[in-house]
Amino acid sequence: MTVLISQVKDYVGKEIRIGCWLYNKRSSGKIQFLQLRDGTGFIQGVLVKKEVSEEVWERCSQLTQESSLYVTGVVREDERAPSGYELTLTGLDIIQISEEYPISLKEHGVDFLLDHRHLWIRTPRQNAILKIRSEIIRSIQEYLNENHFTQVDAPILTPTSAEGTTTLFHTRYFDEDAYLTQSGQLYMEAAALALGRVYSFGPTFRAEKSKTRRHLIEFWMIEPEMAFCDNEASMVIQENLVSHVVQSVLNNCSQELKVLNRDTSRLEKVIPPFPRISYDDAISLLKEKGEQIEWGEDFGAPHETVIAESFDKPVFITNYPASIKAFYMKPDPKRPEVVLCADLIAPEGYGEIIGGSQRIDDPELLKARYDEHHLSYEAYQWYMDLRKYGTVPHSGFGLGLERTVAWICGLEHVRETIPFPRLLNRIYP
Ligand code: 4AD
Ligand code: MG
Repeated sequence: MTVLISQVKDYVGKEIRIGCWLYNKRSSGKIQFLQLRDGTGFIQGVLVKKEVSEEVWERCSQLTQESSLYVTGVVREDERAPSGYELTLTGLDIIQISEEYPISLKEHGVDFLLDHRHLWIRTPRQNAILKIRSEIIRSIQEYLNENHFTQVDAPILTPTSAEGTTTLFHTRYFDEDAYLTQSGQLYMEAAALALGRVYSFGPTFRAEKSKTRRHLIEFWMIEPEMAFCDNEASMVIQENLVSHVVQSVLNNCSQELKVLNRDTSRLEKVIPPFPRISYDDAISLLKEKGEQIEWGEDFGAPHETVIAESFDKPVFITNYPASIKAFYMKPDPKRPEVVLCADLIAPEGYGEIIGGSQRIDDPELLKARYDEHHLSYEAYQWYMDLRKYGTVPHSGFGLGLERTVAWICGLEHVRETIPFPRLLNRIYP
């Protein structure tokens, strides 16, 4: 039986066998030091010439970067080792001597790395990012499951748009037109009226012609939806969720954050409550800081960064003008030109990580919105049913997984936050 590198601490002083790849090797003539990885971790294997057969020593000398092998060895505790353990090797069986590996340990250009994404993910930095992504997903589900949410899956192929028609991915559904989903929200509204508190977690698609460090064509979204919940109560859930996620990563991924050189002092401050400012105040703040923007315009990435710089926690911007938001957002009864919504902006320039709102619950008002937004009323008949049969105040939000990963990991670009990024003009590998 083989043991995982992440389990070696339970085998100190014992001889174990692991399946692994050679990450790096150096030799002093009498000792070979092998950096071994198995995906669960890295460990140094030490092979001493005079303690093994000539044959084992020779086999080891042939190993190239990313060769696959089984090793046997005795686990030793070693303070100097990054993992705290080392293997004194006793045997070694080669599975394959790897061909010359394209990704050497030197620096490579981004296009080259993206072309080799299927191999790039083997490197320590990418390993750390994917582990943190997994912990973020795990802790999101933990929080929601503990707070009475039921996970409900939304369809990927849809007949309608949720977030405007300009970024729809068109496809055919036999004889009909169909689109890849932009958001599971409309289906979650149906599910919330069935199950109270629900969330979907799945891939979403935007045919966005933007080539920025925050945009992917295919990204993953967590979309909670709550019946009998207003926008204020939704924001409380959002800040508790985001704080739970950040604290979980700090507690469970300290090694990975170290690999990424993440300054964790900024993350430690992510404790509720988060500051809230209105869109109006955000416009004033931007003007004070010398930005060119007028009431009614949407924020660009640089605006969000300027706003975020005034706070050391994520900040909610509330009550945007209805004209720049989606058709389903509920107008503020006191001021119908703005809607009951909030975007959550991450610190340090990582931009909007959550978009959420209270939904229109009045059937007449909702009906009027289709024309205003150039949407075909027919396609939304089922959605209108939700306002006919026991409509209730309800709210929800969408948390963009990749932007959250970029922020928590401190990454320059979202392309590293997802195993196989779909970017503008790139669908390979
Ligand atoms: O603000 P958005 O468009 O909101 C919705 O889709 C709502 N229907 C969600 C809801 O209320 N259920 O998207 C939500 C989040 C954004 O805040 C952002 O984090 C992320 O999804 N996002 C993207 N991430 C990467 N690449 C893109 N092209 C993204 N577009 C949105
Ligand atoms: Mg948004």
